Amino acid sequence: MSNNDVVLETDLTGLQLLNRGKVRDLYAVDDALLIVTTDRISAFDVVLPSGIPDKGRVLTAISTFWFKRLADIVPHHLITTDVEAMPESVRAHADVVAGRSMYVRRCDPLPVECVARGYLAGSGLKEYDVSQTVCGLALPEGLVNSSRLPEAIFTPATKAEVGDHDENIDFARMCSIVGTETSERLRELTLSLYAHGRDFAETCGVILADTKFEFGLSDGELILIDEALTPDSSRYWEASAWEPGHSQSSFDKQPVRDWLDGIDWDKRPPAPPMPEEAIEATRARYREIHRRLTGEELS
Ligand SMILES: Nc1ncnc2c1ncn2[C@@H]1O[C@H](COP(=O)(O)OP(=O)(O)OP(=O)(O)O)[C@@H](O)[C@H]1O
Ligand SMILES: [Mg+2]
Repeated sequence: MSNNDVVLETDLTGLQLLNRGKVRDLYAVDDALLIVTTDRISAFDVVLPSGIPDKGRVLTAISTFWFKRLADIVPHHLITTDVEAMPESVRAHADVVAGRSMYVRRCDPLPVECVARGYLAGSGLKEYDVSQTVCGLALPEGLVNSSRLPEAIFTPATKAEVGDHDENIDFARMCSIVGTETSERLRELTLSLYAHGRDFAETCGVILADTKFEFGLSDGELILIDEALTPDSSRYWEASAWEPGHSQSSFDKQPVRDWLDGIDWDKRPPAPPMPEEAIEATRARYREIHRRLTGEELS
């Protein structure tokens, strides 16, 4: 497969498809899982008909980079990204999955999304504008769109059913779902992981404004699962362009948003096909965030 090909959907015979998310296809492999990150891209929660070449490989490489760096803080689910080291049933599909797949320990996912925010944006900004709180946490007055918060906050959410939005919850509600002790541990882990990511990103000239982690339980142990600090689970901003008072340009999807802003589309599926220039510009942004964080050019 050449690097210009996009993988929009996988259909790996011999493996059991468990879930197709907006971006990833999830398969059961023996007692483990295979997470295949496709080149699908979504905007306003709608999967666009065009894919972005390199996106699946970029997201996989960024997750892998962070899982390894964060392993001192918490164990993670990643076993390998090397297809040659995966079971034969996966190796049979090497041409499709190589470079875009994580073979991971299967855990019981906890039914909460663990979000850390260091800056005010998205649903956090919306709540702040109404009540000067985020997930019930009181914040100082006078903050504006994209302000840096005095300190990072933990703002959990419930996992939405398919097609629904995640719902922000306060800490007490989280405790009623997964228990107080687990909630306290998840809050502490989430804030440490975020702080590590934010401080490292800063050295790359990138702001990690916020991010979402998921955790699972394996033999009673808390494990970091899913993806780690990817542009799909996080807001990354160009540090040199950061200017509170308005929305920041999205590091990865800005060319897509700019294109969508200029056309007449009601944000309901199907979305129109993306012009080649917007695809190439988006691809370049994904490759750049990968290079900025890892210091390496994606092959
Ligand atoms: N190690 C793991 N063990 C068990 N489940 C996992 C593991 N890692 C990730 N998962 C689960 O796999 C699923 C991945 O789904 P994915 O995020 O791709 O799609 P989605 O949540 O259905 O939709 P969306 O695209 O909107 O996120 C999540 O529900 C996540 O909790
Ligand atoms: Mg998900």
